[in-house]
Amino acid sequence: MSRPRALIAGNWKMNGRLAEATALAAAVAAGARAGGPELLVCPPFPMLAAVKGVLGAAPVSLGAQDCHAKPAGAHTGDVSAEMLGDVGCRYVIVGHSERRADHGEGDAAVRAKAEAGMRAGLVPIVCVGETLAERDAGAALAIVAAQLAGSIPAAATAATLVVAYEPVWAIGTGRTPTAAQVAEIHAKIRADLVARFADGPAFRVLYGGSVKAANAAELLSVANVDGALVGGAALKADEFLAIAAAAPKGN
Ligand code: PGA
Repeated sequence: MSRPRALIAGNWKMNGRLAEATALAAAVAAGARAGGPELLVCPPFPMLAAVKGVLGAAPVSLGAQDCHAKPAGAHTGDVSAEMLGDVGCRYVIVGHSERRADHGEGDAAVRAKAEAGMRAGLVPIVCVGETLAERDAGAALAIVAAQLAGSIPAAATAATLVVAYEPVWAIGTGRTPTAAQVAEIHAKIRADLVARFADGPAFRVLYGGSVKAANAAELLSVANVDGALVGGAALKADEFLAIAAAAPKGN
């Protein structure tokens, strides 16, 4: 079966002031080539509109790092998925482990955010992944399966939702799972998607956690890895573009 077109997503987290964000976006846009994997940048909220302007017509999508579940209302400090659509977002990351940890977001909250993204016409990137303690306890597969079951809305399709597997212990640590460990989890995610959704084979399942140019080819060639969610290495345009260049050719 042919693979879905790969998605290489940059999660800039809470990094970069406006000048850096626009410069980074300009460099990514300048290096983006049609025909390769889909490129996505996810800047902090205040930079979204400016980055959208810099991206212009370049083949680079815009995404946000979170959204509120509701479309509007008395939720000081929050941002709705509809607002993100207004400023040009096509994607929204939900359930990142840093939000699960920093903001106490559980699977039900993540699912509500994913539903909000879909309601607004955005594609949510739903993150799942085990901690080191959970892996050491032999619970990685069960944890990921439970997060997947609880975080992905019933109405999801391969065209409207992306999954990202990000082992918490690999995020920002320089440690990556072995190809065999990635393959094991991604096979489980695929099996669960196939069991639950008619178009389960076509969902894109990204790997995230210390992806860099030097390990991208190996990680991206693992079965059922359809792209990468990149943190630190996405803050350097040449490194991010090199990761994209390492993606296997799609269909
Ligand atoms: P990292 O972050 O690439 O810096 O490990 C990945 C992520 O948190 O999405």
